[in-house]
Amino acid sequence: MKVGTVKIDSPLIMAPLAGITNLPFRIIVKEAGCGLVYSEMISSYALVYKSKKTFEMLTSCKAEKPLSVQIFGADPFIMARAASIVEASGADIIDINFGCSVKKILKSGSGAALMKQTDKARAVMAAVKNAVSIPVTIKIRSGWTRDGYQAKEIAKIAQDCGISAIAIHPRTVSQGFKGFADWNIITAVRKSVSIPIIGNGDIITYKDALDMIKITKADFIMIGRAAIGNPLIFTAINSALKKEEVEPVNIDKHFDIMIKYFTESVKYLGETKASRMMRSRLCKFVKGMPYGADFKERVKHIVSEKEGIEIVEAYRKILKKYNKENSNNFNIDKIEALL
Ligand SMILES: Cc1cc2nc3c(=O)[nH]c(=O)nc-3n(C[C@H](O)[C@H](O)[C@H](O)COP(=O)(O)O)c2cc1C
Repeated sequence: MKVGTVKIDSPLIMAPLAGITNLPFRIIVKEAGCGLVYSEMISSYALVYKSKKTFEMLTSCKAEKPLSVQIFGADPFIMARAASIVEASGADIIDINFGCSVKKILKSGSGAALMKQTDKARAVMAAVKNAVSIPVTIKIRSGWTRDGYQAKEIAKIAQDCGISAIAIHPRTVSQGFKGFADWNIITAVRKSVSIPIIGNGDIITYKDALDMIKITKADFIMIGRAAIGNPLIFTAINSALKKEEVEPVNIDKHFDIMIKYFTESVKYLGETKASRMMRSRLCKFVKGMPYGADFKERVKHIVSEKEGIEIVEAYRKILKKYNKENSNNFNIDKIEALL
């Protein structure tokens, strides 16, 4: 499968999640079987004005490739310059954010604000496309109304501009993350253009993934929140797509991922920052598990990698013992929190 010229091994894509999809997280989801990872959204202005912190967000490595870097902004000139910077950093794909519904972003005319300004949207896409030779994609919402009219309109403009794929999260701007994603909009956009479509929204289990592909005929599917504490969701969906039996979540693999996440974070952020970040991240991996509250209480105060790993290993032992005593194998369909 391809996005433009970039070959993707699995149709499963990790959604861009601000505050989550930094390099260490992308490495662990890639290893769990996702085909393409996206960066967090990155400000085009901050790139052009050379913010050191923002440049650090472009750090990548071989293990996560291919990488799509998402930029946001509303000024075609600045977006084009930012896109050149992203291309020079070695990214494989550039994605333009047309979906962010955060007030500050909308006020600046970026994100989903572009979905109701078709001329501006076209200018931004054309400028970015002309500035780089790597594939350019966009990520949109339904738009400002439930009928998805704007999604279809923007999709057609994207096709005209030579955009290589469109990811659609079919919620309206005012919905934010409330209610449900209306997959019918993905189907409608799929029918309105011939470029690849990436369906997104409310995939919680491997069964949802299969349903989305069947219902919408999307070429790729993108998973966001469900992967935050359960990267193995990609393994499960890949198995289901190959018509193999979907194995229950393997505790050892799940815990190995938590440890790798920690060690990769230390490499990327340094021990102090990584330990602070992992306090909340590790909690996402144990939601709904027996004795999870005790684990959460302990990780709240982690200050070092050694301490963090010890707590994770101790909890692994507790869970294995619990599992043995209750002959209760963890199953992806049974751990509501992992879903
Ligand atoms: C914490 C968080 C951060 C997000 N950050 C971004 C972002 O940077 N860029 C973007 O296009 N979408 C962002 N989104 C939207 C997701 O990419 C995705 O479209 C949405 O979560 C729906 O997919 P899901 O139901 O699989 O989570 C974010 C969502 C969440 C929950």
